[in-house]
Amino acid sequence: MNKQTRDELISRATQAKKNAYAPYSKFRVGAAILTDDGTIFDGSNVENASYGLTICAERNAVFQAVHAKKRKITAVAVTSDEKTFITPCGACRQVIAEFADPDTEIILITVDGKWKVVKFGKIFPAPPALDKLKK
Ligand code: THU
Repeated sequence: MNKQTRDELISRATQAKKNAYAPYSKFRVGAAILTDDGTIFDGSNVENASYGLTICAERNAVFQAVHAKKRKITAVAVTSDEKTFITPCGACRQVIAEFADPDTEIILITVDGKWKVVKFGKIFPAPPALDKLKK
């Protein structure tokens, strides 16, 4: 990915974090998704008084992309208010896997703006072989 696209994803994820609704955990997360046609979707975490109904920033962004009929994810950026890198939770990895491949770039961003890229295949190395359910 070129620098301009990466910077845009970092900026969108960082901006998206400001829209988080996290009154319970106070843990704000922002995510941005790049789809194969170059469109970027973003999302933040939205919590609920019934805690288990909370949706993570990553899934919020993925669902917006898919709703817009963009079904191929080429990159995911994720940030929080932490000085350390946070990575998508297990549930989000499973949802990302539906629309990504092992080469999809996951951009991890700290609150200070430090970033690093990991391949999706590295953080979700053994996806359940459920493709045949589509047939
Ligand atoms: N959260 C995300 O949005 N993405 C992650 O990758 C980790 C966790 C949210 C869920 C919840 O609102 C808060 O962070 C604390 O877990």
